[in-house]
Parts: sequence; structure tokens; C-alpha cells
Amino acid sequence: MKSVALKQKFSTTGENSLIFGDALKVLRSIHNHSIDHCITDPPYNISGYDHKKKIGWLQSNSIWTKEKNFSKIDAHWDKFSDNDYLTFTKEWISEISRVLKPNGNIIIFGSYHNIYQIGSILQSFDRKLINSIVWYKRNAFPNVTQRMLCESTEHVIWAINETKKNAKNWTFNYKKLKEINGGVQMRNMWDIPSTPISEKKHGKHPSQKPIELINRLVIGASSENDMIIDPFMGSGTLPVVALMTGRKFIGIDNNKQYCDLALKRIRDYQNRPRLNL
Ligand SMILES: C[S@@+](CC[C@H](N)C(=O)[O-])C[C@H]1O[C@@H](n2cnc3c(N)ncnc32)[C@H](O)[C@@H]1O
Repeated sequence: MKSVALKQKFSTTGENSLIFGDALKVLRSIHNHSIDHCITDPPYNISGYDHKKKIGWLQSNSIWTKEKNFSKIDAHWDKFSDNDYLTFTKEWISEISRVLKPNGNIIIFGSYHNIYQIGSILQSFDRKLINSIVWYKRNAFPNVTQRMLCESTEHVIWAINETKKNAKNWTFNYKKLKEINGGVQMRNMWDIPSTPISEKKHGKHPSQKPIELINRLVIGASSENDMIIDPFMGSGTLPVVALMTGRKFIGIDNNKQYCDLALKRIRDYQNRPRLNL
């Protein structure tokens, strides 16, 4: 297997590509209808909570005041104004729609904060939606504000890169999904724990997705040798699963540290035997 190297530009080689760069710029350099599928986990725009805020309910909450370091995402790449987030999301989804082949799968993660915007943008582009998947994290971190339900789900929209009228023959590996679900038809509520520590041995990413979760999507939505793009690959979970399952990948991230982490994870998996899925 060819060793993967970190590049700064996309070149049409048909090989696996790991690219350190801005998703939009890289997407704009890719030919129309040249990639099979997209599976991605973009910024959710949920960072930026001010821990120093002097609000009554915060100050009276002992968990918040004593344990300010609980795991809440707070990353510069995840902070946008509402308008900028909408523009950014429209732009990259529009580019994904251009670079994907007709009837390719477009699978996008979100939470209640952004998933409705993503769904609405896909609908405004007249893309056919086939499923929404709820990822249930039974070990999700408790809600410390005590003012709302403990959020223990993330959401995934599965769309087809074609209009509702013309969508046909998209990849949906019914039998494979049934097989990995113990012989029972796969439903759209997936009970999978948050990413285990064993998958973080090469370093941490604040929103790293579990291999089991990405594996279900890759197995269900693509065939062997298909090219899958993840323009926001973070720690490289999609590239790693692509390698494990005999798919090709284009992984992009504009954070060098995360690209290096992805490369370490990829190298670690490159010499392992392929999963028989
Ligand atoms: C939610 S994380 C993805 C996590 C990933 N699924 C994993 O398992 O590790 C989103 C990623 O998008 C990257 N990102 C944000 N804006 C970007 C941009 N304009 N271009 C490329 N990457 C970007 C961030 O650096 C971050 O790693």
C-alpha cells in the first residue's frame, strides 16, 4: 500500500490525499463530478461560551463553578457569527455538490445547533434527503446548567447529490449494514458510545468521532475503491476507516496539528490487515 504524505494542494492522481489547507480553496481546485461520496463532520459553531459570565444560574451551579474544565468544545475554528456560518455552510455544500458525481452520497454531521440549517441548505439546493440518523451517546457528558435536557445525541443527514426528481441508483449497501447489525435491518438510531480513549493514543481532537460510527456510514454508503472526501477531517477518522475498508479518501483540514495527528493515525493503520467487512 502506498504511503500517504501530507500535501498542501490537491492533484488529480486518483490516489489517497491528505491535504493541509482551507476546505473551500481545496474544493475549488477539484474537477466537477470527480468524487464518489462525501462523509463529513464540519464545525458546528457551538464554541465561544464565556466561562467568566456572571449570570445567576451559573454562579449558583456548583459543578460549573468548581469544575470549569469539563469537556465543552471551545475551539477558534468552531466560532462564527450566525451570518458567517450560514455563508460558509452554503459555500462548502455547494462546492461538495459540484465535485461529487451525480447520485453520490452526501453525509453530514451536526447537532441541534446547526443540523436544521444544513438540512435547509441541502433542500434549497434540491438535493434528495434519504435519511436522518440519530447518534445516541449513552455516556455523553452531563448537562451542568440544569436548565435543559442533557444533550446526548448528534445528528447525521444522508442526502443524494441529485434532485428529488432525478435521484436514482445511489449506493446503499443494505445487506452489509444488516450483516454488521447482527442480521437485523439497520435502523436510524445508532447507540454508539463516545470515542474510546484507545482511539486517541496518537493525540487528542475535541470532536473526534468513533471509528465504529464512521465505519457504519462508509460501509453503508460506498463501495470498495470508491473515493470519499472529508473536507473537515480533523483527526482523520474518515481516512483511517477508508483505508481499513478498501476505499480511497481525500481528507482536508486547515489545522496543521490535526493534519499531523491524522497522518500518525493513518500510518498506524497502513500496516495493519484490512477488516473483513
Ligand atoms: C468537527 S471537526 C472534525 C472531526 C473529525 N470528524 C474527527 O473524527 O476527528 C471539524 C474540523 O474542521 C476543521 N476546519 C474548520 N474550518 C476549516 C476550513 N475552513 N478548512 C478546513 N478545515 C477546517 C477543524 O480544524 C476541525 O478539525
